[in-house]
Amino acid sequence: MSDTDVQPGRLFIGGEWEDAASGNTFETINPATAEPLTTVAEGGAEDVDRAARAARAAFESDAWQKLDARKRGRLLSAIADGLEARADELARLETMDNGKPVREARMIDIRESIDCFRYYAGWADKIAGDVIPVPGPYLNYTRREPVGVCGAIIPWNYPLQMAAWKVAPALACGNTVVLKPAEQTPLTALELARVAAEAGLPAGVLNVVPGFGESAGAAMVEHPEIDKIAFTGSTAVGRMIQRNSASTLKKISLELGGKSPNIVLEDADIDAAVRGASMAIFYNSGQACTAGSRLLVQESIRDEFVEKLLKRAAGFVPGDPLDPKTRLGPLVSAEQLERVMGYIEQGKAAGAELLLGGDRPSVGNGRGYFLNPTIFGSVRPEMSIACEEIFGPVLAVQTFADLEEAIALGNDTEYGLAAAVWTKDVRKAHLAAHRLRAGTVWINTYHNLDTASPFGGYKQSGYGRELGRFALDLYTQVKSVWVNLG
Ligand code: NAI
Ligand code: MG
Repeated sequence: MSDTDVQPGRLFIGGEWEDAASGNTFETINPATAEPLTTVAEGGAEDVDRAARAARAAFESDAWQKLDARKRGRLLSAIADGLEARADELARLETMDNGKPVREARMIDIRESIDCFRYYAGWADKIAGDVIPVPGPYLNYTRREPVGVCGAIIPWNYPLQMAAWKVAPALACGNTVVLKPAEQTPLTALELARVAAEAGLPAGVLNVVPGFGESAGAAMVEHPEIDKIAFTGSTAVGRMIQRNSASTLKKISLELGGKSPNIVLEDADIDAAVRGASMAIFYNSGQACTAGSRLLVQESIRDEFVEKLLKRAAGFVPGDPLDPKTRLGPLVSAEQLERVMGYIEQGKAAGAELLLGGDRPSVGNGRGYFLNPTIFGSVRPEMSIACEEIFGPVLAVQTFADLEEAIALGNDTEYGLAAAVWTKDVRKAHLAAHRLRAGTVWINTYHNLDTASPFGGYKQSGYGRELGRFALDLYTQVKSVWVNLG
């Protein structure tokens, strides 16, 4: 598939491909070239309303209500198979829409999306209640019932994967879904709808409405027929969603930003930690909510560590993301590039030492949103590059004297999504893991993630846990049933 083969995108509502009620469309851009890839129907409030009503009708239909849980599981398996059959094509499409290296799109985004549908396919017929011993002549039992119509609002950094994280558990639990992909990367969510329809998912069970946050996203948050919103994105929008959903008392789960500390103690395997630290920040061009954007190195090894890190980082050469050898692609959009460049300027102005990068390479036609890997030294905790989520290939290096100070520095952030510690000392490793206030802690590794393991944030990184059996709590509600045996 090349740029020119990408078909225009439409809304997928009630099993039909449709134009927006307004007739509006928007362009989605290839970030490696800054050229439009195709146009996509721009969903607005009216379209969200149609999608929500289609999802409600599907939720109440016999086709969905009377479908055995086991058959629901088989539908999810069929979706996984459908994605797998088209994995290479989907990886290229993701790369053209988002800019991420195609090798990563294939090995991570697409593979893990497939995995997610397979995993939740297995759960569909294992979502059971309890029998509870209560006083008196009564039988009391619980049922785990679906929440109803679930709205999924997802970001652009892992487009298909974020869709899978929400759609797969929602369907496994018997819900129906309205999915809004990010305006920067709408294409693979539409392909997911196509694959799901081909797999036999009943019409209206999965609806996809591409559009902008302030219009389509906001309309979902306020729609009375949508029972739940699952959101991944910025902390600012997360707060807005929580506020705006109050009038309809939606159930909300929020996976938000991060400023994750990556702590290297003096007794660590230095070479492994150098590899880990560079992957932690440069993977996906730093556009990862768990990016290891704060590197905290023990003073005694600082110089040796930084020297090796600079050498390693220089190997992340920005290139054509469709080339399977490329490890660093462009940022997703002109807006994101500008935001990240703004942080680099702030870092310089605040007196941080620019050790690497900070400038833009010319790749391909010279118009893509590429940025060289960037590392700042002499960073103080109050600088914006040390406390705000940058979401680009920009690393802030700080030092500490001992473990106590490392943990204090690590926790000195409003966020709490992830943290890592590198050490050979078991006691220090677990002490740090217990005391770091984050939803994920890695020991001598970084960025591990699996469909079976919970994922989510502490503090301003949000609440609710996705993946694993934990996501079942997000997509079910518990009913208590009493039977009089007297
Ligand atoms: P964003 O939070 O605005 O966008 C994420 C999703 O929310 C998109 O689908 C967007 O259309 C939707 N949205 C935006 N405003 C909305 C509203 N008022 N109501 C409902 N939905 C709305 O993120 P954006 O602007 O693309 O990126 C800004 C920053 O956010 C990034 O630089 C990064 O720091 C952070 N971010 C964090 C992500 C994460 O994985 N935690 C993902 C994307 C961005
Ligand atoms: Mg795009």
